[in-house]
Amino acid sequence: MTIVWCSNYEELSRKAAAIIASQIIIKPTSTIGFATGSTPIGLYANLVKKYQNKEISFANVKAFNLDEYITGSREVGWSFSSFMQTHLFSHVDIPEENTDIPNGVAEDLEVECARYSEALSEVPGGLDYQILGIGTNGHIGFVEPNEFYPLDTHIVDLAESSIIGQRPFFEDWSKIPTRALTVGIRPIMHAKQLLLIASGPEKSEILQKALFGVVTSKVPASILQLHKNLTVVADKEALADILANNPECSL
Ligand code: PGA
Repeated sequence: MTIVWCSNYEELSRKAAAIIASQIIIKPTSTIGFATGSTPIGLYANLVKKYQNKEISFANVKAFNLDEYITGSREVGWSFSSFMQTHLFSHVDIPEENTDIPNGVAEDLEVECARYSEALSEVPGGLDYQILGIGTNGHIGFVEPNEFYPLDTHIVDLAESSIIGQRPFFEDWSKIPTRALTVGIRPIMHAKQLLLIASGPEKSEILQKALFGVVTSKVPASILQLHKNLTVVADKEALADILANNPECSL
């Protein structure tokens, strides 16, 4: 595990973008697992800048996403699919057919889970990079704390803290979906490289538990300790507990 210390969110966003841009430069046909949420917004803004400056092209990149709300016929105003359009895809040259995300309004959600798991399993050698955020309860994607690790794409009832975590995206909190489709642990752990980004004091305690605590499905992100190529890019507020508990860390 490599931890990249950043003094603030802007630096985190720049450094995380530099890592993903390097991947695309080294392998223009990379398959990348993208994440949604507040944390990757700055990373995506920096990737868009790099595209506009002609430093990178997404023309041959393939994109998967971690998760999507289940909304049924309810109109909630946005989705993780629209988030990706707003913050990245509509600003770069990625072909639409190169992007895939679980379909939260599929008629048969179990069939959709199977389709998405299969699509991920067909990526040769696994995703080149998987971008991850972390929930305050330790979730990655929407793999919530549980007695076991779900391996593949599944339907999940969101934990209360995960529902609260969606508030920045909704004016009317009563519209926040309570269920989602999410990948399981398998495609994440099979990815060749992982980039975990975390910002702000509310992530500090869980980041310490996830990266230095017991590996347990009750803290889903703790399994990332077992991955061979985990890079954590976090700001000093998110790293506060790690620094306090590991005085030997020379970040
Ligand atoms: P956030 O969410 O980036 O909005 O904090 C991270 C996550 O829940 O995975």
